[in-house]
Amino acid sequence: MAYTVIDHNHDVVVVGAGGSGLRAAVGLAELGLSTACVTKVFPTRSHTVAAQGGISASLGNMGEDHWSWHMYDTVKGSDWLGDQDAIEYMCREAVRAVVELEHYGVPFSRREDGKIYQRAFGGMTTRFGEGTAQRTCAAADRTGHAILHTLYQQALRHRVNFFVEYFAIDLLVHDGQVHGVLAWNLADGTLHRFRAQATVLATGGYGRSYLSCTSAHTCTGDGNGMALRAGLPLEDMEFVQFHPTGIYGAGCLITEGVRGEGGYLTNSEGERFMERYAPHAKDLASRDVVSRAITVEIREGRGVGPRRDHAYLHLEHLDPAMIHERLPGIAETARIFAGVDVTKEPIPVLPTAHYNMGGIPANHHGEIRRVDSQGREEIVPGAFAVGETACVSVHGANRLGSNSLLDLVVFGRATALRCGEVLTAGARLPALPEEATDRILARFDALRNAAGSEPTARLRERMQRTMQSEASVFRTKETLEQACRDLEEIRRATQDIRLSDHGLVWNTDLVETLEYENLLACAIVTAESALRREESRGAHAREDFPERDDKKWLKHTQATLDAEGRLSFAYRPVHLDPLSGEVPSIPLKARVY
Ligand code: FUM
Repeated sequence: MAYTVIDHNHDVVVVGAGGSGLRAAVGLAELGLSTACVTKVFPTRSHTVAAQGGISASLGNMGEDHWSWHMYDTVKGSDWLGDQDAIEYMCREAVRAVVELEHYGVPFSRREDGKIYQRAFGGMTTRFGEGTAQRTCAAADRTGHAILHTLYQQALRHRVNFFVEYFAIDLLVHDGQVHGVLAWNLADGTLHRFRAQATVLATGGYGRSYLSCTSAHTCTGDGNGMALRAGLPLEDMEFVQFHPTGIYGAGCLITEGVRGEGGYLTNSEGERFMERYAPHAKDLASRDVVSRAITVEIREGRGVGPRRDHAYLHLEHLDPAMIHERLPGIAETARIFAGVDVTKEPIPVLPTAHYNMGGIPANHHGEIRRVDSQGREEIVPGAFAVGETACVSVHGANRLGSNSLLDLVVFGRATALRCGEVLTAGARLPALPEEATDRILARFDALRNAAGSEPTARLRERMQRTMQSEASVFRTKETLEQACRDLEEIRRATQDIRLSDHGLVWNTDLVETLEYENLLACAIVTAESALRREESRGAHAREDFPERDDKKWLKHTQATLDAEGRLSFAYRPVHLDPLSGEVPSIPLKARVY
């Protein structure tokens, strides 16, 4: 094994160039910190581009609104697992964040008077649950696309150093500190050591551990996998959000904005069944509720289609001009992937894996935190996480739609600000023993030359099928134990993996294998964490433990890999106190819809 490694020294290295990575990079460069942004895809192809419905902020452009109502909705939506200090920070910062995006150049949709247009989204209310809030700022149904392109332009303006189509293999770790990342340049096969005072993981979620998901093929939990291998914890990984309206068969997202604009769901009897499950919020109940309702309708024989295995989403009653103006993207997606003209026919939909509430634990400054042996929270030096790869935790057990784009930009900026406080531009980097790099190269080399009998694609599909059937919208001890057993078998079978390409230049076989290993780690932690949590909360619906259990389970799960490669679990308390003391803590209560 003889690899030449090319060295780069920066103040900060950001891994990932989606909304959170780009917003962090823009802020870091603005502060005069030398910033490298390492990304496996071209920045404007990052998965943020697929976000449709919008970004939440209590601008109050469509009626009265207040950040404390947004905070209440987010805490309630999280089923009280969200940390209220971080949630207060995010909801207060939201208005400023959207105005900043507007000034950066995001082409938001407008009202007649020129103000930013805002639509209704699930779980967003006024006056602590009394009315429906129109809080989600939209750029038609291509909001993520608009934000991502704008942030990329800002990053170019601020001269962020991009390393595009570089695959981050693993974190450089020494003495409990993160010193950067080792990456592989896919185009020419060279290896690159990015040393930095701070490393920001912004690598997105791990939706691809499921067979049907709204996530891009690139959403492979790379940051989560790197964190685990570096001995860092993953938090609340049992909470996987299913979006109620993925296109049946294809999984593509049909935005919740459709229901925000007046769309509704029906079953085989033509019934608007959400009225039974959530008499108040109906089709705009939060996603966990709507996904479970569709699943129950199908199980009880009221699904639509020849196999009675999905539901219908109707827009035919809406004004075609409005659809053309505000929902052009989903009209196109429905035509291509379901063969449906949305002005004439309903869209066939099914709950589809959409978002990971769990991830690398980070505080509201983006600093990675873990629980020490005494159960106290401590900061991991040099390490930050933002966006879907992080668990701040503002979404707790269930994220409200349109709080994700918000999370990206608020905590991307917060991370840059924190780096500005704690780092010194141009500071000398400490020595790093070769061992930190050699350990990573050994794994890389072994995978590259793997000559067993199991192709990566076969193992990946087994993992995806297991997650889809055993760790889905509803779970039980039996399904989760089955998932853990199957995943353990798949993990063992991975020791006999076979790559057919052993080269270094554009070796997609190796890329997919590195990604698969990250996905498998995420899948195992998800299933094991879910098995341990014996309650139902948010997106984690245990049929054998149907109630939320605040006495035993009002706490965050943290899973860590020990030196022997075994998972160990620790728990940390939920932060129930808000940040500023200007608003009271939102008291625990049952969720009523
Ligand atoms: O439904 C949607 O447009 C998705 C938005 C989100 O996940 O925040």
